[in-house]
Amino acid sequence: MSPEQGDARAIGVFDSGVGGLTVVSALMRRLPAETILYLGDTARLPYGNKSPATVRRYTQRNVAFLEERDVKAVVIACNTASAVAERRPPTASPQWGVIEPGAAAAVAVARKRVGVLGTESTIESGAYERAIHRLRPDLEVYGRACPLFVPLVEEGWVEDEVTEKVARRYLEPLIERGVDTLVLGCTHYPVLAPLLQRVAGPEIQVVDPAREVAELVARELMSRSLLASTPRGLAGDSESSPGALQRPDHHFCVSDGGDRFQRLAIKILGACGIVDPAFSLEWVEV
Ligand code: DGL
Repeated sequence: MSPEQGDARAIGVFDSGVGGLTVVSALMRRLPAETILYLGDTARLPYGNKSPATVRRYTQRNVAFLEERDVKAVVIACNTASAVAERRPPTASPQWGVIEPGAAAAVAVARKRVGVLGTESTIESGAYERAIHRLRPDLEVYGRACPLFVPLVEEGWVEDEVTEKVARRYLEPLIERGVDTLVLGCTHYPVLAPLLQRVAGPEIQVVDPAREVAELVARELMSRSLLASTPRGLAGDSESSPGALQRPDHHFCVSDGGDRFQRLAIKILGACGIVDPAFSLEWVEV
């Protein structure tokens, strides 16, 4: 590999379903020269109500699947898996979760009280609370498990009166406690961000960690000389347009329900600003 070409291998990204595409869209915007190999473990979705041991086992398989396809790094675009992930041996490919960047994004805007929305496992793990307190011990942190959001997003019920009612029920106790910031601590939830912002009201900052995750990946790839290339505008230009460069061959894998996934993926990437997304799709066993 020549230094001009950089490392052309893909960045491996996984989630239990379509949620991780909210992170993928941020990666595509921030790192337009990078190729994404995405795995949506739709056969085992949801992860959020499963035990840490089970989610760890799924995580290991997903990482192994991506590494077998020779990715240069792995992004765990799933808060549940990130919350229960074990430390990797130093020889494995670099691996980043979403909790630390999510906590960094939250403390950047929080004033006093932070609400964390996540799956049951993520909230029970206390991972966000610990990560936020490492950065700002003065903040009060209140977690709220929202198990119905994932199936609603996977069903495509994004702007729907049922989803709005569910959101009101989930957010009410946090609003009553006076949170000023709400972290979307599940990668499915940014799909519902406009609805959640409406329900939370204008005084509350709704934080999607995806952008911070993409910044972290960009920094880390750069420091390890793993970037695909350094085209104009890449370093430091977080608004680079994916259309300005030749498009990488993104490849998405699912462990179940390919057609459904494809329809929803196009919708979600579009809603995240990736117009006319191009990717190939494969049904795999993990
Ligand atoms: N999107 C995942 C997360 O960030 C998990 C959703 C699920 O499978 O429960 O937690």
